[in-house]
Amino acid sequence: MTEQRAKPWAGRFTEPTDAFVEAFTASVGFDQRLYRHDIDGSKAHATMLAKVGVLSVADRDQIIQGLDQVQAEIESGQLQWSVALEDVHMNIEARLTALIGDAGKRLHTGRSRNDQVATDIRLYLRDEIDFIVADIRRLQIALINLAEREASTIMPGFTHLQVAQPVTFGHHMLAWFEMLQRDADRLIDCRKRVNILPLGSAALAGTSYPIDREYTAQLLGFDGVTQNSLDGVSDRDFAIEFCGAAALLMTHMSRFSEELILWASAQFDFVDIPDSFCTGSSIMPQKKNPDVPELVRGKTGRVNGNLVALLTLMKGQPLAYNKDNQEDKEPLFDTADTVRGSLKVYADMMAALTVKRDNMERAALQGFSTATDLADYAVGKGIAFRDAHEIVGKAVRYGVETGKDLAQMSLQELQKFSPLIGEDVFTVLTLQGSVAARNHVGGTAPAQVKLAVARARHRLSAEQN
Ligand code: ARG
Repeated sequence: MTEQRAKPWAGRFTEPTDAFVEAFTASVGFDQRLYRHDIDGSKAHATMLAKVGVLSVADRDQIIQGLDQVQAEIESGQLQWSVALEDVHMNIEARLTALIGDAGKRLHTGRSRNDQVATDIRLYLRDEIDFIVADIRRLQIALINLAEREASTIMPGFTHLQVAQPVTFGHHMLAWFEMLQRDADRLIDCRKRVNILPLGSAALAGTSYPIDREYTAQLLGFDGVTQNSLDGVSDRDFAIEFCGAAALLMTHMSRFSEELILWASAQFDFVDIPDSFCTGSSIMPQKKNPDVPELVRGKTGRVNGNLVALLTLMKGQPLAYNKDNQEDKEPLFDTADTVRGSLKVYADMMAALTVKRDNMERAALQGFSTATDLADYAVGKGIAFRDAHEIVGKAVRYGVETGKDLAQMSLQELQKFSPLIGEDVFTVLTLQGSVAARNHVGGTAPAQVKLAVARARHRLSAEQN
């Protein structure tokens, strides 16, 4: 890495770069992972230059072959990355020139590293978005399968983490599905703004060569070209937007994690996370810790941090390119890597989750989860809702004192609170009656969960077409 090679910009300098400054300003240690996108961008640039007559066809062919060889050297681990050559762009160009001579020196005609790096990041991010959306789909499918299997499984629904009303476990899984659906939508929307070609902006003002930017865009699969060269080289809003969508996605994942961690505890005991996704304790032999959801919850912090890092990186910069922008890469890479890892491990884990149906149902029987059903029943008998609320409140107080759930009280006991209560009350006081009654789009009834599963499958398959 310390090997000295002539810097492509050394012409106007009389003194060599300070060794520490060289290491401090270099980005090759982290931007080398952009090599494939850099090479693809260079091939398209050379092809465009030959089309408009700036490069000869012979030079173009030599450049493309040479770049293929550089790529092979990188992928086989042969290429010696040099810190003296600063970044991935100059390393590749220097190696190309060493391989093919003068044609290599012509590649950089009509471009700058400023528009080159902006292009590379957009190509990289476009790929990452596609991978992440595919990873979201895998997790969504695991959730749909679970929802279908557990469409009638009853669990307590919570507000304020206090038992509120019974819900079905399938319905709960589909709530997560919906959040992920919006996360995917946000990323797909962000991709539209990522997939615009900045190449041709050159350093900041454009270039005097007769370039054909639309052609380069077409070669690289971009949807269009940036409309202002100063903007094209300097703004990283597309990366910030991606990090914003990623932060929301991880915030959702963190909430799922919090629930799984609670559910896997001995106090809830609603689910069993497979052993292969947990670890033990070095001191407490009985422990089985839900490490995967805990780590995903923890990793949300760095993804949120990366968003703030990029916002802060951008906020004080005058137009156009500034070296500050070199700092965009590590937060961006870390965000994409973290999101992909979290989604992958979650899709695998959710597909293997064991649901403890009896425990959930038992928990739903505690905490008077059908109190609202009793109030609604009283309303049906002609009592105003506020009065019904009062009546049921008294029945609950009696239940707390006697240790009985509403469904366990006799008709005579219930009638002490309102003589209008009849034998038919027991159909609404059961958990099954309660969930089955919420039978509308968005409701928790098993019949609705099954319909929602079908709609969810349809939405995913429609997106693939
Ligand atoms: N390594 C640089 C970056 O990541 C490439 C662009 C450098 N441009 C420059 N004028 N120094 O942003």
